Amino acid sequence: MMSTKDPLDPNSYFIRSFGCQMNVHDSEHIAGVLESAGYAPAPDAALAGLIVFNTCSVRQSAEDRVWGNLGSLGHKESGLPLVAVCGCMAERFGVEILRRAPAVNLVFGLDALDRLPGLLDRCADARMCDTGRFDSMDYEGLASKRGDHARAWVPVSHGCDNYCSYCVVPYVRGGHRSREPREIISEVQRLTADGVIEVTLLGQNVNAYGCDLAEEVDFAGLLARVAAVPGIMRVKFETSHPRDLSDDLLEVMARTPELCEYLHLPVQAGSDSVLEAMNRGYGRDYYLERVQRAREVVPGLVLSTDIMVGFPGESEKDFRDTVRLVEEVRFDSAYIFIYSRREETPAAKMEGELPAEVRSSRFAELSGVQNGITASSLEALEGRVLEVLVEGCARKGDLSRGRTRGNLVVLLPRSAAPAGALIDVRVVGAGRHALRGELVRITRHP
Ligand code: SAH
Ligand code: SF4
Ligand code: F3S
Repeated sequence: MMSTKDPLDPNSYFIRSFGCQMNVHDSEHIAGVLESAGYAPAPDAALAGLIVFNTCSVRQSAEDRVWGNLGSLGHKESGLPLVAVCGCMAERFGVEILRRAPAVNLVFGLDALDRLPGLLDRCADARMCDTGRFDSMDYEGLASKRGDHARAWVPVSHGCDNYCSYCVVPYVRGGHRSREPREIISEVQRLTADGVIEVTLLGQNVNAYGCDLAEEVDFAGLLARVAAVPGIMRVKFETSHPRDLSDDLLEVMARTPELCEYLHLPVQAGSDSVLEAMNRGYGRDYYLERVQRAREVVPGLVLSTDIMVGFPGESEKDFRDTVRLVEEVRFDSAYIFIYSRREETPAAKMEGELPAEVRSSRFAELSGVQNGITASSLEALEGRVLEVLVEGCARKGDLSRGRTRGNLVVLLPRSAAPAGALIDVRVVGAGRHALRGELVRITRHP
């Protein structure tokens, strides 16, 4: 192992992803492009000649983490490591990152990815910024390096034009663009040839897929085609927008064995007036009706959601409506966020911004309610046998982790089965956020 005194290898890289799954997937392309140009992965950021920060702008806390990390790099005495920043903060701040963070050599947009090796050659001498519009980006044929052999992410669309009033994504990722179905299918075919058995189709509003294509294809149709690719055993997708959750989609899920019983359906709020101010395009009753329908049509459905508390103007009654909705729906899991003001969005100009204490006490209360529901929904699975795809080592202990078809995390003894195996697991216990299981049988070796 290198000591800290050894010179850093200029051709070793380390990428840190701060954002959503799309962001993590973009990092796979960055790694692919770097490795095609002769870079090799470093085991640790401290040992890398090049550190790439792939950033997120969705909330202030995500940005603060990046500013903090960049700040702690300080001024570099020598040339290495090179520091590059890309992702949504690069789109949002551009050259300002060079001004605010002296350690940064290069700010680049993902549509500059094919030029990245050349930019890296030059930015040691002259700090640079090369960001463009995501709209002009051509993702097809870009190199990629996946971290996982049996699972892969496949973006089906990029950007979003829903313009929820709080959300920065349309500004930093551009408008909704669907990929051509044949590009998606051939990517899935290449992945299966490489050993992949599970794909997760990604889009900010995945079920609006196809609305911008000449070919008449919708998301339900695309799902059926992806599921039919030989070798594909499990298909998941996220994130679905409630407004675009059609009966057709639910029916395709129910009748296609490869389509997993998992739906991530962000509700955001349980009050009609807040939902309207958020520009979500649906009300509480509509959401409840969609959930009921989804659970009727897709037996065993695992349902997760995103919820935001403390939106400007959210009254105590509005918040109670959200708590009631959570108690009524009983989501299997929920990501709860405190509203974070994003200057370029309409919500930043709304009146009624709430004090930080109100926002955090609502967050704590709602998290408490949901944690209880998550725990009991996991406990209810004790004794059941579920299909699990083993992903690899868990962070702690001598355990492996995997996921069920419903996307629930399962921890099991490391000796039970290797990464990439598809196994049946008996649930023997439930923690706060994961199940514990024991091997029943291996149904497919990696
Ligand atoms: N496209 C997805 C995910 C968007 S970002 C969707 O529409 O659901 C993931 C989650 O972050 C959102 O669902 C929302 O709950 C949260 N989020 C987005 N903007 C936010 C903001 N300004 N403050 C706090 N949370 C936010
Ligand atoms: Fe943001 Fe709304 Fe688009 Fe999701 S659907 S990315 S919350 S604008
Ligand atoms: Fe963040 Fe950009 Fe994803 S803002 S959530 S990394 S699209």
